[in-house]
Amino acid sequence: MAAKREEIELDDENQSAIEAIAEKHLVQPWPVSGSIGAEARGLIESGDGIYVTDHAGRRLIDGPAGMWCVNIGHRRQELAQVLHDQAMALSYNSPWYTTNEPSALLAERLSGHAPEGLNHVFYTTGGSSAVETAFRFMQFYNNVRGRPEKKLIVSREGAYHGSTYLSASMNGRPRDHDWMDSASEQVIKLSCPNPFRRPAGLTVEEFCESLVEEFRSTIERIGADRIGAFIGEPIMASGGVIVPPDGYLTRMRALCAENDILFIADEVVTAFGRLGHVFASKEVFGIEPDMITFAKGVTSGYFPLGGVMIRSKLFEDLRQSNHSDAMFAHGLTYSSHPIGCAVAMKNLDILEDGLLAETRAISAHFQSRLKALEDLPLVGEVRGLGMMAGIECVADHVSNNPLTLDLEVGKRIDKHCQELGLLVRPLINMCVMSPPLIISVDQIDTMADILRQSIVITQDELVREGLWKG
Ligand SMILES: Cc1ncc(COP(=O)(O)O)c(C=O)c1O
Repeated sequence: MAAKREEIELDDENQSAIEAIAEKHLVQPWPVSGSIGAEARGLIESGDGIYVTDHAGRRLIDGPAGMWCVNIGHRRQELAQVLHDQAMALSYNSPWYTTNEPSALLAERLSGHAPEGLNHVFYTTGGSSAVETAFRFMQFYNNVRGRPEKKLIVSREGAYHGSTYLSASMNGRPRDHDWMDSASEQVIKLSCPNPFRRPAGLTVEEFCESLVEEFRSTIERIGADRIGAFIGEPIMASGGVIVPPDGYLTRMRALCAENDILFIADEVVTAFGRLGHVFASKEVFGIEPDMITFAKGVTSGYFPLGGVMIRSKLFEDLRQSNHSDAMFAHGLTYSSHPIGCAVAMKNLDILEDGLLAETRAISAHFQSRLKALEDLPLVGEVRGLGMMAGIECVADHVSNNPLTLDLEVGKRIDKHCQELGLLVRPLINMCVMSPPLIISVDQIDTMADILRQSIVITQDELVREGLWKG
């Protein structure tokens, strides 16, 4: 008979029993077929501040803040209290025919932080459903406005937008499409704006020019009357923390405006403090999108919530169309969830009450401490902005080629980091970092020191195993 949760005492032995139960019954996200439905993943027992504690009692700095989401840190009493209080006041109401106070008040506050004109919010359950909503809204908008041909979406190589069918169709990371179907006929992919991987011989400015030119010629070739939207993460997160060249986003935004193409900024990672602002589009990149998708940091991971900020002008266009009965047949049982929205309000209080300003102040130290790792032979580039950074490993500094390297190098670094007290997120030949925003200067130093030590150990290991020349 299956053990009940309360019957399993959390001593070391039984915690590995929990891992075994998970291995037997859980389908973990992003599994490979060789171990699908039969995979043990390390048990995390608890979290506190910037730390998580694993089953062996090891306290680790949560380098990726969960999945870029635990922005205000783990185990905040205020958040737990709001979860409790809102559940006792109103745990759920149907958004089909009623509304609730937290969702309305949060919408008003989010509108105040978003670029001018983005005064409406559609709430979802996370990032994928937010992206899916933005895409479906664009389709609906153009259908109602009598432009049913104008519905292709432009995305980029290297992008990550989610795991539902349409959002995943916009993904552009290598390997994500190898074994998966997608609505590829609805998506056009442009080149990845990664300056580190720009074609040989081009300056960063020339590279930027070529990217904008690629978009311009794509619009000319396909026809603006067939393209409904462009979607882009201001900084590609899961693609390896790719910061586009200066001016790229404003020029892409301008091309969209000239061609009546909706610009969707996917801020699922970059919003809610990660770059020091509630939304980064305007404050950091100088762009005013038509829609902004968000999730993750909106509740710092304490409750699943996401949403889309939508330019109110689009609703005016719809109201003035000839189809006042056309229904946007889209809504989720948990849209506008009162607990999620109440948690998001408290999370926003904490961000507004100093954490955004502190993040802006501490980011330079975070970036410079990590940037210093570039002197290590294995490290090709350290890049980032605000409180997100990526470390890319290469075989050598002349070719910057990762392909002749052991491509599990990210995992090797992660393993050594964990032994030294830091969790990092490995991504093939990279590690990405986005710690809780409450991290202190000393804790950043500890993080950077552990990373340096782990990369040095990894270098020695690769040389010893004959996998890298050094
Ligand atoms: C930029 C971006 N968009 C969308 C998503 C999908 O969000 P979720 O996993 O909450 O569905 C992610 C997740 O990592 C993301 O990084």
